[in-house]
Amino acid sequence: MIRAENLSLSIHGTDILTDVSFQMKPGQVFGLVGESGSGKSMTALALMGLLPRGAETRGRILLDGGDLTRLNDRDMCAIRGNRISMIFQEPMTALNPVRTIGDQVAETLLIHTRATRAEALEIARQKLTRVGLPPERVPLDRFPHELSGGQRQRVCIAMAIRADHRAGRHHTGADPDPAARAGRGRGHVAVADHSRSGGGGRERACRCC
Ligand SMILES: Nc1ncnc2c1ncn2[C@@H]1O[C@H](COP(=O)(O)OP(=O)(O)O)[C@@H](O)[C@H]1O
Ligand SMILES: [Mg+2]
Repeated sequence: MIRAENLSLSIHGTDILTDVSFQMKPGQVFGLVGESGSGKSMTALALMGLLPRGAETRGRILLDGGDLTRLNDRDMCAIRGNRISMIFQEPMTALNPVRTIGDQVAETLLIHTRATRAEALEIARQKLTRVGLPPERVPLDRFPHELSGGQRQRVCIAMAIRADHRAGRHHTGADPDPAARAGRGRGHVAVADHSRSGGGGRERACRCC
């Protein structure tokens, strides 16, 4: 479960969020609606620990009881792409133009699990199939510019699917730090940042760390 408690944010002294509180339970889909500029993306970025320079937060962001706002960069890297993923708004800027889609979907597995490259690519194949991009139609060695906009968005969703999907046994067994330990065998939060609800627009996914 993830919960924001009285989350406030300022950027270079300008107030952006004031006392935002909500919680998402396992299996729950939670929608945050607001006019343009009201702070939806900043709320999502706060959950990911990806706020811009000059940002200061108050309040707490609790993931299974642990406060993410207190984690340093290293601990947050163990969570990002592992416990929490983000589907960003713009697939063209989310995807790396010079890496194949297979490599990009496999990346979180290589970072967060002990999967070999071959195993990670096999899971990437499964994830891409799950979002409607079976490799026989869209091979893993395609680059983002060789896909349609909608297909790119699907790649981004595949990237946000839980890293240890079908790979639990590869998780590191003896991480000394709590953040890495927390990433094993636990729930996963996917944060999608959409500009509007129409048009089937699932968009870009998080690049892990
Ligand atoms: N990098 C940034 N630096 C300073 N202010 C920003 C930055 N990005 C967004 N903002 C401001 O934060 C506020 C909330 O923006 P945002 O969360 O992107 O809104 P939205 O609800 O449309 O997603 C806006 O006033 C915006 O101008
Ligand atoms: Mg936004």
